[in-house]
Amino acid sequence: MQTIGLGYDSHRFADDGELKLGGVKVPHNCGLLGHSDADALLHAVTDAILGAAGHDDIGELFPDTDPQYRDTDSSVFVAKALEVAAGEGLSVVNCDVTVLAQTPKLSGAKQQIKARLAELLSIPPERVAVKAKTNEFMGFVGRSEGIAVVAAVMLSDTPGP
Ligand code: CDP
Ligand code: ZN
Repeated sequence: MQTIGLGYDSHRFADDGELKLGGVKVPHNCGLLGHSDADALLHAVTDAILGAAGHDDIGELFPDTDPQYRDTDSSVFVAKALEVAAGEGLSVVNCDVTVLAQTPKLSGAKQQIKARLAELLSIPPERVAVKAKTNEFMGFVGRSEGIAVVAAVMLSDTPGP
């Protein structure tokens, strides 16, 4: 059996700080605002894993009102979602991500993000796709107010090669 999950997340740019996407520091003049490390990419991937496992969103496992998750490295959320999936006998087949960001350009960081995601999900890099789009200057992404990410993850109860 294979199941598919979809995840979405968005965060507003902060005035300063480091930008982290997919567990990778991306060169930019500011980071994103958020309770944890604000890694919108890993949050979207976490929700996609949870969705494919038939669970609801990340906020149910990690309430953003809980002080223990302040500044948390978001790879912790991915690991927890994988644990939830494993509890149902499911593991990741592939992961497909689209980052919506007017700025910065992600071309330089994409390979690194892909490698890190593959590592976090325990799948080969060929099973991970990381795409980036501007929003053609439309909406909050287009005005560079923040970044949005959509992610799809497929899970299977049959371990792949
Ligand atoms: O041409 P199209 O409208 O499909 O895409 P775009 O939003 O104009 O972005 C063109 C290309 O720039 C994308 O296909 C990505 O390869 C790259 N890109 C990027 O590296 N980082 C971004 N934040 C946005 C786009
Ligand atoms: Zn988030």
